[in-house]
Amino acid sequence: MEENHPQALYIITGCSKGIGKALLNKILSYPHAAVIGISRTPMKSRERFTNIQADLSDWQALVNKLASIFPDASFYSKVVLINNAAWIGELKHIGKLDNASIARVYASNCVAPAILMNAFAQQYAHTTKEKLVINVSTSAGRNPRDGMSMYGSTKAALDMLTKVARQEAEISNSGISYYILSVGATDTPMQDAIRETTQDNFSTLQRFIDLKNSNGLLTAEEVANHVWQLLQTPIQAEDGYIYIKK
Ligand SMILES: NC(=O)c1ccc[n+]([C@@H]2O[C@H](COP(=O)([O-])OP(=O)(O)OC[C@H]3O[C@@H](n4cnc5c(N)ncnc54)[C@H](OP(=O)(O)O)[C@@H]3O)[C@@H](O)[C@H]2O)c1
Repeated sequence: MEENHPQALYIITGCSKGIGKALLNKILSYPHAAVIGISRTPMKSRERFTNIQADLSDWQALVNKLASIFPDASFYSKVVLINNAAWIGELKHIGKLDNASIARVYASNCVAPAILMNAFAQQYAHTTKEKLVINVSTSAGRNPRDGMSMYGSTKAALDMLTKVARQEAEISNSGISYYILSVGATDTPMQDAIRETTQDNFSTLQRFIDLKNSNGLLTAEEVANHVWQLLQTPIQAEDGYIYIKK
C-alpha cells in the first residue's frame, strides 16, 4: 500500500444534509478514511472527499456515473457502500398521489440502491478486501402508517433486497457483508418535511410534532456516531436488523 494513502473507502449517498452529512463529517475526521459522496446539491471536493453530483431518481444518469462512484480500490483494505439517501415522498393517502412522485420515490429509494449494490458487487466481490454494504431503513418499512405508503413500501423493498443479497453472498462466498440499519426518528430536513404535512394526510403527524417539541428526536450526529461504531464491529439483531434508537 502507498504510504499515507487512506485505508478505507466509504461511498455514501445523500451526504449533503441530515444523517449523510453528519456521517461524512464523522468519517472524514479519521485520517485513514476517504469518502466518495453522492448528492444533488453540489459540494466542494477536498482532501479525501470526492463529491459526485447525481440525481438518484434518474437511473440512466446514475448508470453513466458508476465508474467514478466505484473506482479501482486496490489501495484500500476496506470498501463500504452506505445507501443513505432517500426521499420521504408525498405524505398523502393513495388516490391523492401525483403519479410522477410515485415513480420518483421508487427510483430514488429502491432502484438507485439496487443499481449501486449491483455495481458494488460487480466491482469488488472478487477482491480480498473487507466489503460492507449498509442500507439505511426505518420502522416505516415494517409497520404500515397511513400517508406513508410510498416511503414505507420503498423501505420494505430495500429491506428485502438486503436480505436476499445477504443470502446470495453466503452462497457465492463473495465476502460482502450486508446490513440493514433501522434508524429511529432523527432531527433532519426529512423530519421537517414530515411535520409540514396535515393530519388528514398523515394521522400520526402529532406524534412527530411531539417528538420534536419534547427533544425526542435523535440528532444526526448521534446517529453518525452509532454508525461509526457499527462500521467497526457490526452486530445485528436476530431478526437481521441493526437498530439505532434514542
Ligand atoms: N430522519 C429520520 O427521522 C429518519 C428515520 C429513519 C430512517 N431515516 C433514513 O435515514 C436516511 C437519511 O435520512 P435524512 O433524514 O438524513 O434525510 P434528509 O435530511 O432528507 O437528507 C437526504 C439526503 O439524501 C439526498 N438525496 C435525496 N434525494 C436524492 C436524489 N434523488 N438524488 C441524490 N441525492 C438525494 C439529499 O441530498 P440533495 O438534496 O443534495 O440531493 C440529502 O443529502 C434515509 O434513508 C431515511 O429514510 C431517517
